[in-house]
Amino acid sequence: MIIEDLKIDVAGLSTWLTNNRSVTVLDVRPKSEREEWSIPGSIHADVYDKLKAGDRHVFDNIKLDIDKPVVTVCAGGKTSLKAAEILKQKGYDAYSLQGGMKAWNYAWNTAEIVLHDVKIIQVRRSSKGCLSYIIGSQDEAIVIDASLDPQVYLDFAKSNGWSIKYVTDTHVHADYISRTRELARASMATHLFIDKAEVNYPFTHVQDGERIQVRNTPIEILHTPGHTMESTSFRIGDDAIFTGDTLFVDGVGRPDLKADHDEAIERSKLLYSSLRRLMHLHTNTLVLPAHLATAVAFNGKLITESIGNLAKKLDMLRLSEDEFVKYTTSRIPPTPPNYQIIASLNKQGSYEGHNPADLEAGANRCAIA
Ligand SMILES: [Fe+2]
Repeated sequence: MIIEDLKIDVAGLSTWLTNNRSVTVLDVRPKSEREEWSIPGSIHADVYDKLKAGDRHVFDNIKLDIDKPVVTVCAGGKTSLKAAEILKQKGYDAYSLQGGMKAWNYAWNTAEIVLHDVKIIQVRRSSKGCLSYIIGSQDEAIVIDASLDPQVYLDFAKSNGWSIKYVTDTHVHADYISRTRELARASMATHLFIDKAEVNYPFTHVQDGERIQVRNTPIEILHTPGHTMESTSFRIGDDAIFTGDTLFVDGVGRPDLKADHDEAIERSKLLYSSLRRLMHLHTNTLVLPAHLATAVAFNGKLITESIGNLAKKLDMLRLSEDEFVKYTTSRIPPTPPNYQIIASLNKQGSYEGHNPADLEAGANRCAIA
């Protein structure tokens, strides 16, 4: 058996999933690791210890669909290779995901929408549920919350005939390393950030109420603090608003990271006011957030909800300020791994000497639902 033939890389599996190819994705990690994050549509076999111990009968009592290829997955791609080898010998068309979940952290897919003369491409890092955007109007574009290699955005710009005029972040992220600065360098775009952003690198300041222009499309800057003090939303008329981690399709941003209890209460109050402001927008305005609480499926379906639908769907948006503060500060999820170091690297604007794949592993935990 040639080991290389048993491997599939992240791009390969992403293409299969995007093209709806029938495939069994078999997660062989310990249950606890799978609970943390997993590939959408994958199934689990609790065989990790046996595989590690070299048990070749580990799949004897597990029936998989023989007509579908099987892709085995573990944390780093070694144990899954043992699993693929055994499955291949049993007659399956088996592959092991190269680099495992650590590599899968960078798997991405897209969804898009055209609103009047603006095209919005939602670029989704599947595992972490990070959503970034490239928004084009005629021959210009802006990128918001770049979380992938700059080349991904450069390729979209090229294929759509856009030059990237602006790049920006909705806030100083604490759960992934922003690629906005790198993209600014690679694209020669102007790096915008709200004037409230406390970062240690130069950027072009924008402020609440200001409008920037992407060809003939005006984009309004809204300072929406709460999740962080500098959190910003970007509004395209009554069509769309990019809300960062302030408002999601299934919850609101957490107000506690890098804050003690009293600060979290203050931030929660700010978040309440910011959300009130957003809920006053036109009911048809589409909310395009920076995260999804779960892994993003490879289904091409835009993750969005209108302001009107969110007002009906999210009970927490109808609470009084006191109730909201109690609600948000009592439902705070566990902190994301490495958030302090990630936030400090983002503040610094450089991750030199660090491996993003090590720091960014794991699920996103930016929301309160
Ligand atoms: Fe965040």
